[in-house]
This record gives sequence, structure tokens and C-alpha cells, in this order.
Amino acid sequence: MSQRKASQKVNGQKTQAAKGVKELTAKAADSKTKKATVTDKAAVKRKAAEDQLTKIFEERLSKHHDELRWLYMELYENDSMFAELCDHMYQFYLERNEELKKLDIDREKDKEWYKKNDLLGMMFYIDNFAGNMKGVESKLDYIEQSNVNYIHLMPFLDTPKGRSDGGYAVSDFRKVQEKLGSMEDLDNLTAACHKKGINVCMDFVMNHTSEDHEWAKKARQGNGEYMSRYFFFDNEEIPAQYERTVPQVFPTTAPGNFTWLEEIGHYVMTTFYPYQWDLNYGNPRVFNDMMYHFLYLANRGIDIIRIDAVPYIWKELGTPCRNLKQVHTIVRMMRMISEIICPSVLLLGEVVMEPEKVVPYFGTVEKPECHMLYNVTTMATTWHTVATRNVKLLKRQLDIVNGLPKEYVFLNYLRCHDDIGWGLDYGTLQMEGMEERAHKKYLNDYFQGYAGDSNSRGELYNADPITGDARFCGTTASMCGIEKAGFEQDKKAMDLAVRMDLMLHAYMFMQSGIPVLYSGDEIGQVNDYTYKEDPDKAADSRYIHRGAMNWKLAENRTDPGTVEGKIFQGLKRLEQIRKTEKVFMTKADTWTIDTWDDAVLCIGRYFEGEKLIGLFNFSESDKTAWINEADGEYVEMLSGNRMQPVNVLVPAYGFYYMKKIS
Ligand code: GLC
Repeated sequence: MSQRKASQKVNGQKTQAAKGVKELTAKAADSKTKKATVTDKAAVKRKAAEDQLTKIFEERLSKHHDELRWLYMELYENDSMFAELCDHMYQFYLERNEELKKLDIDREKDKEWYKKNDLLGMMFYIDNFAGNMKGVESKLDYIEQSNVNYIHLMPFLDTPKGRSDGGYAVSDFRKVQEKLGSMEDLDNLTAACHKKGINVCMDFVMNHTSEDHEWAKKARQGNGEYMSRYFFFDNEEIPAQYERTVPQVFPTTAPGNFTWLEEIGHYVMTTFYPYQWDLNYGNPRVFNDMMYHFLYLANRGIDIIRIDAVPYIWKELGTPCRNLKQVHTIVRMMRMISEIICPSVLLLGEVVMEPEKVVPYFGTVEKPECHMLYNVTTMATTWHTVATRNVKLLKRQLDIVNGLPKEYVFLNYLRCHDDIGWGLDYGTLQMEGMEERAHKKYLNDYFQGYAGDSNSRGELYNADPITGDARFCGTTASMCGIEKAGFEQDKKAMDLAVRMDLMLHAYMFMQSGIPVLYSGDEIGQVNDYTYKEDPDKAADSRYIHRGAMNWKLAENRTDPGTVEGKIFQGLKRLEQIRKTEKVFMTKADTWTIDTWDDAVLCIGRYFEGEKLIGLFNFSESDKTAWINEADGEYVEMLSGNRMQPVNVLVPAYGFYYMKKIS
């Protein structure tokens, strides 16, 4: 077909490419309008609408066609597969419903829509939050009351029971787990969310499939075509070579990067759990089909697609198999494909790596990749600060993030569904006499509650006996001391724990980007130890902080005499301030100010004449922030009191939002 011809030259000459686009779109439009006669007014109208539709697609495709083709050829050198991709893209575009097409156009006009100060996210497992998808729909009022307008539905696609990795082992990308509902329920849920201005996020688990996926099943039967979609080896030589350079993700719960399949006498690559088989993106069939799944899901009304474990998607012998340049080629192609079919959709990259590895996933201004990334180092450094009562490293980390281009949007969070890995700047800590291994041990001891001044509760995750490394799991509230104070019925300790919980949220909201809460944190829910009784979960301590939403406790949210009420109402106030004050816009200037007290962090924000100074005391003692911002009158926004940002006494685990008023 003509598109194929247009795609024959890697140099992608403009005229030929444009011709190809025209013919491709004309073909589909033609077949739809065949039956229309000129005498039929409705048909004429329809034809005009279809022409308009085609024109939009054509314009978007021609904007990206040459680059998309170039990158595709660089990876695959396969014309007919590229032509197939373009054909399918057009089909997915046609299938996208009217509402979504309208949203696409609106957001194309307002490209910065997600860079303001009005988005607040919440993530949850559907069953834990509300039983099933219909249940979530019935809880939208609660979501609104929580000021949340972006919900991340944790993995809900079909996955084998007991071999699911929290849903991150997908056996069917087009089927919802039966207990949670159906694709139709998802369509209804996203439509209901959109009516209320709530965005919906889902995971696109593209690095691997479950061993129960139909491709994996066929591969296991020895079907070569399907084996080539994964990494199979009939002896241990190559796997052993990989193991020399590839680190382990789950050294304790799933050691090694390969799994031996007795029945076919082959090793298969399994970076994560043995039942999660890594996909081979060197095979264009894998890329194309995964893109079709991606577009199918986008067409269900998903606004934000979280690309799970994205640094891992390209493998090469002799490398760590993380962050390889082909990963960026693929993400860039995904960005272009979504800009052509569903430009209202945002890509959120899950890049849990050191800062210099994270930032490249934004791409460049001319060639962007992800719209948003997790502020993971800041998150880990926040907890380091909690354990040490020393803000130095955090201040440095914030300075690095504040120095990045303002186009970059980070997701800020205190914790998520995964463990906290201690990926800190050990070079800097070493200058303070802190050695990596000893410090990680200190942090893990501290958050388990072993250190004298710790009130935290939680558990280790994947403690590696060889490297001595371990990560940590716990809810925000438990890590702040709410669990311990509740258990000991210690009112004073509870008061401090709640203060700390609110201070951490206030500090998190001061950062540029989009704050995301884990459901339950808004009412201070503590660790859930019942996972130990479930054999499918017992070995994975991440379930300690993925407990079911406690709706009974949530009823207390309006009662300021309760822990739930204090946290819910406290957060509500902060959320209202954040979304009404333009100084919280992502684009605002943000900087840190020295307070000359190790425990107190000071952050400044400035946007279009508005200025805000935030002070955060990370210790259990009252502290003075030795600052001097005497450039006018200030009011503290929570109390409404006049206050000068000059040598401010900040109470234990207290915080201030001081706004300049003149
Ligand atoms: C991501 C998920 C994590 C999962 C892993 C493998 O890191 O956040 O929960 O175990 O991918 O899919």
C-alpha cells in the first residue's frame, strides 16, 4: 500500500511522507462515506465531519511522521511493520470516542494544563478501596471531598492469583480482573470521573507479561515465533554472562534474572519475579502489539499512563540492562504515538533511579519523552531527614530539583505502593562522615523503631544478605509514629506524630509539581499486618502498606477530636491553599533559604508578584529559623496571623506558610 511506499526511505523525504499520510487517511475516510449520496443532507454533514476528523489526524501524523519513522527504522529496519503501525494508529484514532477526541483538542490548546497548582493525586488498589470498579464510582464524592482530582487505579488487568506481583504480572491487557469488573465498567468509571473533572491514571506494565499470557503459553510450548517475543536460552552460558553485569531487583524474594523452565529445557529472562517474563523489544511484533494495547487502554478514557519499570525495557548483553539508549527511543516513539492518537493523555515514567538517570526521561524541549516523573530521590531524602533531624542533604537535593527547567513536572509523594529504597547522595553524606552501608543500616533500624529516638514502625524489604542492602516498607502514619502512639495510648506522642505527619505533607505541597497521596494516608491509616496470614502475600512486605481503606475510621474525618479528623481536615486546609494560591504553580520560582538550624528547612516560592516562605521543623524540639526576609508584611496562611519572616520560632514538628501581603 501507499503508506508502505512512503515509508520506504529512511531519510523520510517530506513530500513522500506527506503523500503517504494523505493516502492512508483518505482510504479509511473513503470507505466510511461510500454510501453517502449528495442528495442526502445528513450524509453531506457526516462527510464534512469525517473530513475534519481525517484532517486532524493527518496534521498530527505529518508533524511526527518523519521522526517516528526514522526512530522505528533505527530500531527495526522494517518497513511493512511500520506501515502496519500507522494503519493501526489510524484505526485507534477513529475508534476513540467523541468526548475523548474533544478532550484531546482542548488539551492540545492548553498544553500546560497539568502544570498548574490544581492537581492532587491519590493512588489505590480498587479492591482495597471500594471492592470493585462500580464501588470506586460510588466513592467519587469521597474523592472529591479529599480534594483529589486524579486517581491512580493500581493494576487491575487480568493476572493469575498468587502469581500477580500486586497486578504487575499481566496475563491479558484487554481484560479487567473479574472480581474488579469489566472493560465496560472501566469505560463508565472514566466517563463518570471526567464529568467531575477527575483524571484517571493506570499502569501500563510493558517490560514483561505474566507467564500465563497467551504469548508466554505458546512460547512455553516451544513455538519459536512466540519464544522470540521473550529472551530464551537453551543453556546457561548467555544467562551467566548477563548475570555478571545485571543487578538484581528482588535479591531475596526472587534472586537472579533468569528462570529455568524444565518442560522445554530453556532459561527465560525474568528480571522481576520468575512468573514475569521480560519482553523482547528488539522484536518489532512486540513493540507494535504492545502499542496497540497501549492505545486500546488510552481509548478507555485513561488520562495518565504510568509506564511501569520503563528503564528496564531494552536488554543488551554486557550492560546493566537499565536506561539503555534504545529505551529512550521507545519512550520518544510512545510520546509521538500518543500525541497523534490521544494527545490528552500524559505519560508518567516510573524511573526509580538516581537523579542523573531520571531526568533524561523528560527528553528535550524539542523531543520530549515523559510528561511526568516521580521525584524519587527527594522522597527518600525526606525520610533520611526525618531520621537524622538534619535538613542539609534535603536542602541540597531540593536545590538540584529547583535548578531543573520548569517544563519538567515531578510527582511528589511521601510514599507509594512500593518500598522506600535508600537511594541517597552518599558522596555528599560521606563528607559528613556517613558511610553508605552503615547509614542504610541506621535508616532501616530507625524506621523499624529500633533507634532510641524513633517512633516509627514498619518492616524491611528484600534484605540482601550479600550486599547488606535492604529497603523499607510502612505507611506514612506508621513512619511518623501514629501507630506506636496509638498502641501505647500516649496522647502526647500522638500529638507529635500527627504534627509531624501534617508538617511532612505541608512541606511536600511546597514543592513544584503534582502531589500524590496513597489512599488511607489522608486519615492517617497505619500498617496492616494481616498480609502475613495470606500465603499469596506473606513473602512480600510491601503489602504492609497496601492495606484496605478503613471506611469506619474515615467516618471520623469531620471530627477534629480524632486522629483521622485532625489529619483529614489539616490536609484539606493545605490542599485548599495550594489550589487557590498561584504561587504554587509548577512554574513558580522555588528556592531554599539557610536557616542556620540543622532541623529547620526553609523554602521560598515566587510567582507573578506573589511570594511565600515556608518553614518546616523536622525535630521534636522547638527551633528558631535564623532567617531575615524583611521585605514587607507577611501573614501566616493557616492561622491568619501577621508574622515577620525574621528569626522565627518554629514549634516541634511545626510549619508555617508565610505569604507576603505588601
Ligand atoms: C514497578 C512496580 C512494582 C513492581 C515492578 C514490576 O516497579 O511499581 O510494584 O513490582 O514494577 O512490575
